[in-house]
Amino acid sequence: MSDWYRDFANSGFGTTLVKQLGLPRPAVLRRFEPGQPLLPGPAIIGSAGEGRLREALTELLRAEGVHVQSPVTADGATDGEKPAAVILDATGLRTPGDLASAHDFLSPAVKRLRATGRVLILADPPSDADSPAQAAARQALDGLVRSMAKELRGGSTANLVHVPEGAEASIASPVRFFLSGRSAYVDGQVMSVSPAELPKADDDEQLLAGKVAVVTGAARGIGAAIAKVMARDGAHVVAVDIPAAGDKLAEVANEIGGTALQLDITAADAPQRLIEHLRERHGGVDVVVHNAGITRDKLLVNMDAARWNSVMAVNLQAQLDITQALLDTEGALKPNARVVCVSSQSGIAGNRGQTNYAASKAGVIGMVRAWAPQFAERGATINAVAPGFIVTEMTAKMPFGTREVGSRINSLQQGGLPVDVAETIAWLSQPGSGGVNGQTVRVCGQSMLGA
Ligand SMILES: NC(=O)c1ccc[n+]([C@@H]2O[C@H](COP(=O)([O-])OP(=O)(O)OC[C@H]3O[C@@H](n4cnc5c(N)ncnc54)[C@H](O)[C@@H]3O)[C@@H](O)[C@H]2O)c1
Repeated sequence: MSDWYRDFANSGFGTTLVKQLGLPRPAVLRRFEPGQPLLPGPAIIGSAGEGRLREALTELLRAEGVHVQSPVTADGATDGEKPAAVILDATGLRTPGDLASAHDFLSPAVKRLRATGRVLILADPPSDADSPAQAAARQALDGLVRSMAKELRGGSTANLVHVPEGAEASIASPVRFFLSGRSAYVDGQVMSVSPAELPKADDDEQLLAGKVAVVTGAARGIGAAIAKVMARDGAHVVAVDIPAAGDKLAEVANEIGGTALQLDITAADAPQRLIEHLRERHGGVDVVVHNAGITRDKLLVNMDAARWNSVMAVNLQAQLDITQALLDTEGALKPNARVVCVSSQSGIAGNRGQTNYAASKAGVIGMVRAWAPQFAERGATINAVAPGFIVTEMTAKMPFGTREVGSRINSLQQGGLPVDVAETIAWLSQPGSGGVNGQTVRVCGQSMLGA
């Protein structure tokens, strides 16, 4: 399932042709490989006003072996190589006037950013501002980041993380994620961290070592990719899918040294059966990924009850019932558990013919937001990921025109891969991601839909 247009546009003749025709030239994205350095080059860190994160950021990057350059001067002079990342600590912003210093830092630095670079801004949340002027300045960064993400080329991304007072220790995991190849298809996004317990991983390389992770819908597609990435990162994966997908499920489980569990997650006894399996075989579970999902598309006026009910049952009710049972059963969720729920861009933007699907996926977003405080009380987290156009067997069957348009209408001008969703979920599952809770992270290349 390679991207023929991207490959053509990056070939010698193709590059010339698409340039002459004014067509998009999607870049080859920088994706994570184990053992890869965090960044393929140096980083520049700047601040707008008296930021409180700059020192910690510099220390964090140096510990990762990243060379931190001095900010570019107004005449464009620097101390060498083109940067692979430009990071702005905007926690010092007080008024819209202070934004001028953000511009003064970013403009020359981003001009020098190499391909597949990263721009990351850290700022206080507008909701915590002391005055309307301060809230305006903080909110202004939203528009700045989202526009920058649309301007960047060469597979580079720009994202914004809100860091409230007291949550400074929570930034390490998101900063590493957004700079790394794990976030290849996460672009133009705004998310928040909160103060939290941050247990250390057992192993610095394999961040899920020693963890037991359940992945539903793991027989194929995005679920199989999630299972593989979790196993690569050290987890023992319990791969769940319906009995009809048993052969493929066994293949996935065997490939990664995991366990296959045939289970229809909508069955009345599914939560109990799953929990029994986890307690007896593994002494509980560390990570639960609610990935299984179905579509039964029809315009609302033509949609029968069966279509509506089946989609709600798999995509939303099963996630609610299993999660509630895990919370209610002593010893089912291990300490610092992580739950990650798969939503969809359709749940944010809506989609013609998908009232049932979009309703279920929007419901997931409401669910994680509402559960987050209860999870935080036990040192756990619950988050959602909302994939955009992801290249799977399903999308390969779409008519050519629909598929081409669907996969190009985002800032990265290409569809994402199942591994992009999987990397984001594996990141949210890490022990160090305890400060990310109740969030919905879009993995959509900054899709124009629902932006
Ligand atoms: N592919 C995309 O572009 C895309 C975009 C946004 C969101 N998503 C979401 O990502 C998730 C995975 O999508 P995919 O494209 O890999 O789908 P897929 O159809 O390829 O795989 C879904 C898996 O879930 C399993 N499943 C369905 N009902 C089940 C049940 N009752 N119990 C247990 N397992 C069940 C299926 O057997 C299948 O193996 C879904 O939640 C989907 O809504 C996908």
